Amino acid sequence: MYTIPIEFFQSPVSHKPLTLKSENILVDEDGNEFKKNAEFGFWNFIPSQRAPIYNETQWNSFKQLIDNFVISYNKHPEVNVSYAERQDAFDFGDFCKYYGNVLDIGCGPHKTPSYIKFRKNPDATYYGIDVLEGEHPKDLNFAQAMGEHLPFKDNTFDVTISGTSLLHFVDIKQGILEGLRVVKPDGYFCIWLGVKSKDAPKPKESPEWYSKLETPEGAENPFHYKRWTSEEFENIFKEVGAKLIEKEVHKIDEWRENVFFKLKK
Ligand SMILES: C[S@@+](CC[C@H](N)C(=O)[O-])C[C@H]1O[C@@H](n2cnc3c(N)ncnc32)[C@H](O)[C@@H]1O
Repeated sequence: MYTIPIEFFQSPVSHKPLTLKSENILVDEDGNEFKKNAEFGFWNFIPSQRAPIYNETQWNSFKQLIDNFVISYNKHPEVNVSYAERQDAFDFGDFCKYYGNVLDIGCGPHKTPSYIKFRKNPDATYYGIDVLEGEHPKDLNFAQAMGEHLPFKDNTFDVTISGTSLLHFVDIKQGILEGLRVVKPDGYFCIWLGVKSKDAPKPKESPEWYSKLETPEGAENPFHYKRWTSEEFENIFKEVGAKLIEKEVHKIDEWRENVFFKLKK
């Protein structure tokens, strides 16, 4: 059902090549194994243990965030932008100008995010990773993986994209570095950042399920590690040596805007 070529993969833990140990198990030279999901046939690259890629605090924080996502996805699926025909998603899809092999990092739990579904270039091939298993079959070639530790070789994709996902990563800088690592030198990495001012009015009431969520250690709220400003985000690009080649700002209201960035390595 999912057809990601094995040659695309490398170990997300050791960064060494992966070989097939059996039809449903990939293994790296250090013995790290990754299994195919028995029900839906996608590879699961979430490491079974935290070491060596995370310390204990980061790992527990990541697991808390995932628990929160699962609850929100079940209780309130329509809040996910991939769910609906929305102008902001159409705008991001137009901005991405898909071609060749496209990887969506944090593609969401639904079948296809709407910035792909409604803005598809039929000549391109779409791949997606997310930490959540989500709904299946998806309309893109899916693998379960972490954006900070992608299971792909360097220079594999023509376009990499991330739609409102990076703010949920335990290590956002690592997420940006990975999105750039796996894109080809003549390709680009498109990021959709939702910016919200600290002065934005808080919702008058939160649903009961939301108020019960625990905030992961080091995070600002149950879902976001930090609400970055556009300028702060651009400073990370400089720190990681990324070239910002295009930027689009779509104002939503007094307090909120969507910012799209196109980066090259
Ligand atoms: C707000 S949703 C956006 C989903 C999709 N891009 C869209 O716009 O419809 C954020 C997604 O990021 C995923 N996510 C959170 N942390 C992640 C990580 N470290 N690596 C990959 N995906 C992650 C979540 O599971 C969730 O599906």
